[in-house]
Amino acid sequence: MAAKNALIKIDDKEVTYPVMTGTEGEQAIDARNLRKDTGYIFYDQGYGNTGSCESQVTFLDGDNGILRHRGYPIEQLAAQSEFVETAYLVIYGELPTASQRQKFGDLLRDNAHIEPQMQRLFEGFPKDAPPMGMLSSLVGALAAYYPALATNNFEKDLQNFDLAAALAISKIRTLGTLIYRHSRGLPFMHPKDLPFCENFLHMMFSEPYKDYVEIPEVTKALNLILLMHADHEQNCSTSTVRMVGSSGANLFTSLAAGVNALSGPLHGGANVAVMQMLQSIHDEGDDGTRFIAAAKGGSKSNRLMGFGHAVYRNFDPRARVIGEACGLVLKKLGKSDPLLDIAHNLEQAALKDDYFISRKLYPNVDFYSGIIFRALGIPTNMFTVMFAIGRSPGWIANWREVASNPKGRIYRPRQIYVGPAKRDYVPAGKRG
Ligand code: CMC
Repeated sequence: MAAKNALIKIDDKEVTYPVMTGTEGEQAIDARNLRKDTGYIFYDQGYGNTGSCESQVTFLDGDNGILRHRGYPIEQLAAQSEFVETAYLVIYGELPTASQRQKFGDLLRDNAHIEPQMQRLFEGFPKDAPPMGMLSSLVGALAAYYPALATNNFEKDLQNFDLAAALAISKIRTLGTLIYRHSRGLPFMHPKDLPFCENFLHMMFSEPYKDYVEIPEVTKALNLILLMHADHEQNCSTSTVRMVGSSGANLFTSLAAGVNALSGPLHGGANVAVMQMLQSIHDEGDDGTRFIAAAKGGSKSNRLMGFGHAVYRNFDPRARVIGEACGLVLKKLGKSDPLLDIAHNLEQAALKDDYFISRKLYPNVDFYSGIIFRALGIPTNMFTVMFAIGRSPGWIANWREVASNPKGRIYRPRQIYVGPAKRDYVPAGKRG
C-alpha cells in the first residue's frame, strides 16, 4: 500500500489509486488502471498535467525557477562545467572521471567526420533549403549509413550505445557546420583533431588555406550556450524522441523526430523568431510598443517571442544565465549590438505590463541566446540548428531510458472523438 492514495468517484463507483512521489517531492496519481477500472480516461490536452514517464535525467521546478541535471543545479554547471562534460553527465548520470572524460572525448573526435558518400546528399538540397529541414533529413539518414548501430532492436542497439551516442552528438555538430557552408556555397571543411567546440568553430569558419584563429572568449561562450541547452525535461522535442523511441525505433530515427519537433516557432524555432522580432523593431525605429500591443491580442502568431514558458511561472534560470552572459560576451569581444539594448528595453516594458505580469510571462532561454549566437558570427537561420546540437545529449539520455526500461510500453495516448457519429456511405453520384 502506498503512503498516500487518491480516491476517484465516478457515478457510483469509487476507485483508489496510489500516489507516487519523486525524489524532489513531486506527486502524481498513478492512474494507469483508470480506463480498465471505470471506462473513463483523463482529458489533458497538451499533456500539461500528465506524467508520461519516470525519469532520472533532469529535475525542473517551474514555479521556483529550478533546473538541475542529475541533481546538479544549472547555475553550477554553467559556471564550472563545459558542454562535453555536461553531455556526459546528462547521458550517463555522473560527472565523468578523467579517464571516462578522455574516452568520451576520443569517441567524439573519432566520429566527427561525415563519410564522402553521405556528403553527396547535400547535392540534392537547394542552396536556400531551410537548415532544420536539412538537419532532420541528415540525422534520419544516419540510420541508413550506420545500420549496425540502428537495428530497431533495443538489446542490440544498447550494446552499441556508447558509440551511437558519441557518433550522434559529434555528427549532428559537424552536419550543422556543413549545412551552414552549403547554404553559403562554401567548400566543406574536414574536422581536425580538436576539442568539440573548437572543431565546430574550425569547420564553420576556416577558409581554404586560412585556418580559423581561435578566440578563447568565443569558444567559452559557445561552450556555455550549448551547455545551457543540454536538456530540459519532457519538452516537446524530448517527449517526441521518447514517443518515437517507444515504438522500438533506433536512436538516430528517434533523434530525427526530435529535430523536427524542435523546429517549430513555439519551441526551438523561437530563437529565430526573437531575432527577427528584434531586427524588425530596430529597422522600423520602433521601441517595441507595437509588438507588445500586438502580443496582447491573444493570437498565437503575434506572441512576444522569447517570452513565456509552458512550465516556468516565475523565471527561466537559463534566461538569467544567458542574459547575464550576453553583455559579458559582447564586452569581451569588444562588440556592441543594438539588438541587445532593444531586448533589454522590451523586457523592462513587458515586465511592467499587467498582461505579462498577470500571466506570469517572463523571458525564456531563447530571448537572449540569439544575441550570443550573433556575436559568435552564426547567422540567424542557423540558431535552431545550434539549439539541436546543444539538445542532443538530452534527447539521447531520454531515448536510452526508454530503450532500457524492460517494463516500457509503446506511447499511445487516447482521445475524445468529436467527429461525425456513424453514418452510411453515399455513392459518388448521389452526393451534394
Ligand atoms: N506573448 C503573449 N502572450 C502569451 C505568450 C507570449 N509569448 N505566451 C503565452 N501567452 C499568453 C497565452 O496566450 C495565454 O493567454 P490567455 O490566458 O489570455 O489565453 C496565457 O499567456 C497563458 O499561456 P500559457 O498557457 O502559459 O502558454 P502555453 O503553455 O500554452 O505556451 C509557450 C508556452 C512557450 C508556447 C508560449 O509562452 C509561447 O508561445 N511563447 C513564445 C514562443 C517562445 O518563446 N517559445 C520558446 C519556449 S522556451 C524554449 C523551449 O524550451 O522550447
